[in-house]
Amino acid sequence: MKNLFEIKNLNMHFPIVDGFLGNIKGYVYALNGVNLTIQENEILGLVGESGSGKSTLGNCILRLLTPTSGEIIFKNENLLNKSKKELKEFRKSAQLIFQNPFMSLDPKMKVYDILKEPFIIHGYKDKNEINKKIRQIISLTGMDEEVLERYPHEFSGGQRQRIAIARAIILSPEFIVADEPVSALDVSIQAQIINLLLKLKENLNLTMLFISHDLSIIKYISDRIAVMYLGEIVEIATKDEFFKNHKHPYSEALLNAVPTISDEGKKKIILQGELPSVQNPPKGCKFHTRCPYVMDKCKSESPQFYEVNPNHKVKCFLCE
Ligand SMILES: Nc1ncnc2c1ncn2[C@@H]1O[C@H](COP(=O)(O)OP(=O)(O)O)[C@@H](O)[C@H]1O
Ligand SMILES: [Mg+2]
Repeated sequence: MKNLFEIKNLNMHFPIVDGFLGNIKGYVYALNGVNLTIQENEILGLVGESGSGKSTLGNCILRLLTPTSGEIIFKNENLLNKSKKELKEFRKSAQLIFQNPFMSLDPKMKVYDILKEPFIIHGYKDKNEINKKIRQIISLTGMDEEVLERYPHEFSGGQRQRIAIARAIILSPEFIVADEPVSALDVSIQAQIINLLLKLKENLNLTMLFISHDLSIIKYISDRIAVMYLGEIVEIATKDEFFKNHKHPYSEALLNAVPTISDEGKKKIILQGELPSVQNPPKGCKFHTRCPYVMDKCKSESPQFYEVNPNHKVKCFLCE
């Protein structure tokens, strides 16, 4: 498998600025030494509790945020060394679909103009070509051409997310970050949108980073799964491997939070307590404050990634 992205030791530490004097009082340690590859043509599911850094990672990879340090290698070039002009080129091939389709669409624009805008931003001039592309995408995303003359507020949440998806793919990107794309939608609509994303991935040869806090959705859509905790990737594996053989106690806790019929009577680890402070994260393994298997060294040393097999890595001393 070829890597589309290689993310190396990525850190994003947001400074907390004292309002009056403008001094830096501390940092929000949102990403801490993230190492991750995204393979061409896969859907990589990124899962973790709210506040674990998933959106920050997605936004850094798309270069909508500038990380504090690290490398984001896209097709053998570090995105952190690129000029503004080169980044604009990159943005044509990498797009974001966000959670809230109510906020991501300009209410004053007709759908036709919403879909035309990316062409204008990137300097396309051929009106016939643009028009043709817009109509193709409308049909590909399962809508009727009559939506083009309407405004976003005239649609339901699911339909708006279709419009947002249409806009994200209109310049034929190679890579999409879908950040909780169905979390704001009715459960009855979620499957339609997920299935649309799967269809588009096949038809357009997309690579996707699919972010969700919901493991059942991640299980349905992903080829590989990465688990994030307090700004670190703690486990990464192919989907089947992950569901058969997950190793990290945090992954176990996340899986235990998903109800299944067969678990009655089984011993479960349940997540205790709140996510620790991101301004003052625990030393050693960041999960040690909530881990039922905690050992002494977990409190002072941070585990490296141990390879369970070539498809499976875990950041936990239990796998040493
Ligand atoms: N622009 C920002 N400035 C300061 N802190 C931020 C900013 N964006 C996110 N954070 C913080 O970084 C942490 C990770 O946030 P986020 O990436 O949104 O997590 P997730 O998407 O997993 O819920 C949170 O503690 C959040 O409050
Ligand atoms: Mg988020």
